[in-house]
Amino acid sequence: MPNLKTNPTPSRIDICGLDEMPERGARGFEVAMPDGEPLHIIVWRDGEDVRAFENKCPHLGLPLETFPDKFLSKDSRTLICSAHGARFNAEGDCTSGPCQGDALTRLDIRVVARDAKPRLVLEGSAGHS
Ligand code: FES
Repeated sequence: MPNLKTNPTPSRIDICGLDEMPERGARGFEVAMPDGEPLHIIVWRDGEDVRAFENKCPHLGLPLETFPDKFLSKDSRTLICSAHGARFNAEGDCTSGPCQGDALTRLDIRVVARDAKPRLVLEGSAGHS
């Protein structure tokens, strides 16, 4: 997992600069939660659209990737779990594979301006369960 990010406030967690994300791609991050527990997340950017999910497959609870930041299909339209091939659409819904009909936990991620630069932040409790 890349980069352990610390949490300056419980309700807003800085992830990275928007320019640190590929225009169309996904990256994994490990976020330090207020309770000290790490939260592994996937940030998926598709142009202006940025979404985030907990990196925990609903099938067996494993992280989706085998290799760092390798989450997406070749056409960048679906997330793929490398363990058993489950595929997830942009909403996080499993569309095929052993957990079809289930979904990833979606997180509230936003673009905010910090020092006149756009940054990605998680809002709220970040769905930690
Ligand atoms: S753990 Fe993801 S498909 Fe089995």
